[in-house]
Amino acid sequence: MGCKNEFLELLRSTERDGVEDVIQELETQGFFTAPASSNHHLNTEGGLMLHSINTCKAALSIWEGMKNLEPGIEKEVKRESVIIASLLHDVCKIDIYKRSVKKRKNALGNWEDTEGYKVTYKNFPMGHGEKSVIFLLCSGLEMTEAEMLAIRWHMGAWGINMNSYEDQRCYDTSRCLYPLVSIIQAADSLAASILERSEAEIDEL
Ligand SMILES: [Fe+2]
Ligand SMILES: [Fe+2]
Repeated sequence: MGCKNEFLELLRSTERDGVEDVIQELETQGFFTAPASSNHHLNTEGGLMLHSINTCKAALSIWEGMKNLEPGIEKEVKRESVIIASLLHDVCKIDIYKRSVKKRKNALGNWEDTEGYKVTYKNFPMGHGEKSVIFLLCSGLEMTEAEMLAIRWHMGAWGINMNSYEDQRCYDTSRCLYPLVSIIQAADSLAASILERSEAEIDEL
């Protein structure tokens, strides 16, 4: 509950047109209980919301740090844009995880049933960042071009079709035009690799 309030407070602090419509849509589609993955970090109920908050905290820290190095950033990248793009970058995951029972070997080497999630893309298979952008626009959120591009390209090189010259050029161009793109990409990576690292995950490497 604390996490949900934190998420809502951050989002409402932007005072952006359409925020209440998006919150309604997130509620209806189960965002606040969805996991962030099926097998990796935060694969538990509420994981997606927690990952979004972590990404937002990392993004705000990066933004603050970069302002010290490059004061012009404060004018170019607004705090509200950092919050909108980071908190909502992964809303595409809202409907891809379904509860399932999986077989897993226990410490004694015996197979046992464990509760988990399986992935399905049958609800609107639009991709990743691009699905988030479309979800938000269809929900009625006002977004700047920089915010849309930061969400679209938040996976960085991992989300680019390397056979597509256009993808590569669009990603590079977005990064050059809008520093928000690099901030969100770095924040997403730092949230997963530093804030959400677990002992169990390290053991399984
Ligand atoms: Fe993502
Ligand atoms: Fe993410």
